Amino acid sequence: MTQTLIIRDPLHSPASLDAAAKILLDGGLIVFPTETVYGLGADARNAAAVRSIFAAKGRPADNPLIVHVRSLEAVRLAATHVPPAALELFHRYSPGPLTLVLDRSDAIPPEVSAGLPTVAVRIPGHPVALALLERAGVPVAAPSANLSGRPSPTTFGMALESMNGRAGAIIDGGDCELGLESTVVRVTDSKAVILRPGFVTAEMIAETTGLPVREAGSHAKHETAHSPGTKYAHYKPDARVVTASPEDVASILETYAGERVTVLCLESASGNLTPREGVRVVRFVNVREYSRMLYRCFAEADSEGSSLIVAETVLPEGVGAALMNRLRKASGK
Ligand code: TXA
Ligand code: MG
Repeated sequence: MTQTLIIRDPLHSPASLDAAAKILLDGGLIVFPTETVYGLGADARNAAAVRSIFAAKGRPADNPLIVHVRSLEAVRLAATHVPPAALELFHRYSPGPLTLVLDRSDAIPPEVSAGLPTVAVRIPGHPVALALLERAGVPVAAPSANLSGRPSPTTFGMALESMNGRAGAIIDGGDCELGLESTVVRVTDSKAVILRPGFVTAEMIAETTGLPVREAGSHAKHETAHSPGTKYAHYKPDARVVTASPEDVASILETYAGERVTVLCLESASGNLTPREGVRVVRFVNVREYSRMLYRCFAEADSEGSSLIVAETVLPEGVGAALMNRLRKASGK
């Protein structure tokens, strides 16, 4: 057990951000907010600190981490080559929910990338994350701040729940604005392959780069080897997650009569579900709101004792592709 420092209102207390930066530089772990989900960060140059991230999360050693930096200059230090398409994407969508996989330079130890010759780099769009990076002045390796296999924390409470006693400090940055992890893209001079869909969509990447864009996993089997993380269980709450199309939600509920169920659905799609004992229905105004709230709703379903979550499917377009990707994995598909 580590004694965990809790930092509240970080932007109004520069001294506390300095303390967090010092913990990082001394080889400790810091939980910090980003616009997507909370991250569990270590000094990316420090191999021992990076290894302690894997220990704190129970993360498989072959699942590489994302390096967080605050500027394009820092990206250039982490990578040996930044292809023109990658530059265009950084200019357009960073700081923001976009991670690019580039060729790794010697400035980043192999532990960060689980031995791969590449490195995933992102400039996060959250003021607290940027302030921390600024003060620490080092690249910060950070996966999502959940225990391996669990939903990513999107509120301070969820981050505290998963990492209290495991990190040197946890910074309260409130609720995450986006709620799903960044888009991960492997960009070379000739193509872009989406390894994990997110808010920066395939259409946006194609439009910005003019390159052919593919989704890993939708094609040849060997593609999954490019993003080792994709083979593990992910985003799973205690409750079982079952997906259902809007027209099937009501009949699925009948199949599971007697269970405590949380239903997640769009206001527009599932229509009037007849209320019944043991069934809690959470409705979202749109796909973006559904995405933002997904992991929080998973956590709430667990704390309310639901044994089943019925999640309505959405069209896999735009942000819907990212939401469906997480729902498929959470339901074990
Ligand atoms: O939004 C986010 O990306 C959050 C916040 C904290 O920045 N981070 C996050 O990290 O989701 P994590 O570790 O939970 O997911 C990183 C994903 C994994 O699927 C991993 O396999 C992939 O990125 N990845 C990391 N480095 C890679 C590399 N060199 N090549 C291919 N995939 C990589
Ligand atoms: Mg994760």
